[in-house]
Order: sequence, then structure tokens, then C-alpha cells
Amino acid sequence: MEKIEVALGERSYGILIGDGLIDQATEYLAPLARNGRLLVVSDETVWGTLGLRFKAGLAEIDAVPVLVPAGEQSKSWAGLQTVVDALLANAIERKDHIVALGGGVVGDLAGFASAIVNRGCNFVQIPTSLLAQVDSSVGGKTGINVAAGKNLVGAFHQPSLVLIDPSLLDSLDPRQVRAGYAEIAKYALIADAAFFGWLESAAQNVLAGDPAARSRAIATAVAGKARIVEEDERETSGRRALLNLGHTFGHALEAETRYSDRLLHGEAVALGCVLAFDFSVARGLCAAPDAARVRDHFRSIGLPTTLRELGLQGEGERLASHMRHDKKRSNGRTAFILARGIGEAFVDTSVDLADVTAFLDRVQ
Ligand SMILES: NC(=O)c1ccc[n+]([C@@H]2O[C@H](COP(=O)([O-])OP(=O)(O)OC[C@H]3O[C@@H](n4cnc5c(N)ncnc54)[C@H](O)[C@@H]3O)[C@@H](O)[C@H]2O)c1
Ligand SMILES: [Zn+2]
Repeated sequence: MEKIEVALGERSYGILIGDGLIDQATEYLAPLARNGRLLVVSDETVWGTLGLRFKAGLAEIDAVPVLVPAGEQSKSWAGLQTVVDALLANAIERKDHIVALGGGVVGDLAGFASAIVNRGCNFVQIPTSLLAQVDSSVGGKTGINVAAGKNLVGAFHQPSLVLIDPSLLDSLDPRQVRAGYAEIAKYALIADAAFFGWLESAAQNVLAGDPAARSRAIATAVAGKARIVEEDERETSGRRALLNLGHTFGHALEAETRYSDRLLHGEAVALGCVLAFDFSVARGLCAAPDAARVRDHFRSIGLPTTLRELGLQGEGERLASHMRHDKKRSNGRTAFILARGIGEAFVDTSVDLADVTAFLDRVQ
């Protein structure tokens, strides 16, 4: 088992990573239960797949499930109301720990519910999707989607513990595994060229569920994110903004495909990273062979790497219009995460959207 600390003063917490951790969950969760009981927020698919195993690992502690339907639509005002009302109906108290057992939807929703119920109680993340294990369960961003856009209502609320059991991924749909993998590669592209080199040879083992390779990939990405969050918890200095590599392009692609099954978030991030590197090359910042490595890598995984395969070539103006509405804009400018090479991402606030539009019209 590996332990990664997130040092944030009184909001510090540990992230434990190990295959089979969920089968010994009682060891870590019993001290957090009150009267032998824990409220567990999950979605119906995850609970149907993993609920029995999770309850068995809790031994004498009683897990009371609070369930929402699987899928992004549960990360909504209605989903939040369901969860908050259920927590209150179960007499949640301020010092209690809510458990979030699920993917990023459950983590964001349960985390936000725990930030506001009784003016804030504690929560534990047990992420079950690869995206949640390497990204959304760490760092304390919680929230819901509203009519005006995704993730526009929420809170920074750090968990008190994160339990990552990579063996839970064995039941995850392979397409979801690939999408989550994009966030691992993204981290390598931001700040860790050696890790990217390792991924180029080990990615197939990671995706196939080889325990050693999978745990190493998850732990490296999580440790990298933890360090960035420590330096810039609330994304004020620009350091945490680096984690948005591939996301400005990616969000435009997601918005243009209407957040549908046509393009999962991680798939948008993969193509977004390719575009960010190509754009960096176009601006004379990055050497072309680095961008080619990025594209070749994502292509070898089976992730999208061209606008053409999504039917979005020549749609520069439409894609740029989504960027104009990006919530990360400040003073009317969109910050782009560009790269001087693999592992050398930086924030560029000098990018003119007209240049982005022309670039997107040009690329395939
Ligand atoms: N808070 C953050 O920092 C942060 C970062 C990145 C993404 N997010 C958010 O995360 C969400 C996406 O998360 P996601 O990709 O995990 O989606 P998700 O939670 O919808 O999970 C994807 C699907 O996989 C199923 N599933 C999850 N674990 C499973 C398992 N072990 N076995 C079988 N099925 C399983 C779920 O039921 C769901 O149908 C988005 O809302 C995004 O905004 C948040
Ligand atoms: Zn992401």
C-alpha cells in the first residue's frame, strides 16, 4: 500500500492506494463511523456492482446507502436536493463523515452536499472510476452543473481521507478506463517527461489492468496532483491552472458535442492535449516531434486525436465561441495551457482567440 499526504495545514489528509483496500475498509472507516453507522453516497450502478463487496469490507459497521441514478444528470440541483434531504433524514451531524463511493459525479455531488449540509461536515472519497482515482477525488473541488454551464456552482471542500483501490476498476467499462487514462497522461505532459516516457512503454499494461503498472500510474499521477494542490489550493497563483492542460480545447469540444456520449470528458482532454501541443508548435514554442509523440501516444490508446474523426474539422469559429464563455476567463481573456515540450506546460494569457480560431480551422 502506498500513502500520499496532501499537506494543507488543518485541511491536510492522506491518500491511500492499494489493491484490495476496500476489503479492509473497516480498518480506516471504523474510527470515522458514529454509533457503528456510515452514510454512503453512491450511484445505482456502482452500488449494484460494488455495494456488497464494500459492505463486506466494513464488517460490523452499518453502511446506509444514499443513491442517485448513474450519470452526469445527477450532478444537478435535483440530485443535490435528493442527497442533502436524505442525509438530513438520516440525522447527519456536523462531525460525521459521509462516504462518497463512485466516480467523479458521485464525488463532486457528495462532496458538495457535505460542504453545505449542517454548514459543512466531513467526507471520505472512495473513487471507483479511473478518472475519479487520478483526478476528481483529490484536491477538494466539489460542485454541480446548472443551466448556465458545468461545475458553475460548488465549493472547495477537502476530503478527510481518500481510499483508492485500483482493483475496483476491473468492472469499469474499457471506454471509461481509456478516458480516465487521458488524465494520467495529461499530468505527465504537464510536468513529468520521465513519467511520459514510462507511459509510452507501459500504457497497454496500465489499461489491461496489470496490478503493478496500474498502481504505479495512479500513484504517480495522484502524487503529482497533490503537490500542485498543495502549492495552489484555490487556483489563485496559476500553478493549479496547469491541471487544465487540454481542457480549454476539451471543454469547447464537449460543449460542441453537447456533453453527450459522443465524447467523454477524458476523450475531449486527450484531443485537447493534442491540440494544445500542436498550437504550441504553431506558435513556435514547442518542437514538432514532441507534439507528434503526444498524438501518437493517444492514438495508440484508442483515444481521439483529430477533429476530423469527430466531424468537427473547419469548425474553428464554433469551437472558439465556446471558449469565449469559458468560466476560467478573467478580465475577458482565456488562459491557455501551452507547452515548451513534454513535461513543460505553462500558462499563457497572451493568446488571441482569433489565432486559436484560425488554427482550429487549419488543423485536421
Ligand atoms: N472535482 C474535480 O476536481 C473533478 C476533476 C475532473 C472531473 N470531475 C468531474 O467528474 C465527473 C466525471 O467523472 P467520471 O468520469 O468518473 O463519471 P461518472 O461518475 O459518471 O462514472 C462513469 C460511469 O462509470 C460507472 N462506474 C464508476 N465506477 C465504476 C466501477 N468501478 N464499476 C462499474 N461502473 C462504474 C458510473 O456508474 C458511471 O455510469 C464530471 O462531472 C466532471 O466534471 C471533477
Ligand atoms: Zn479533466
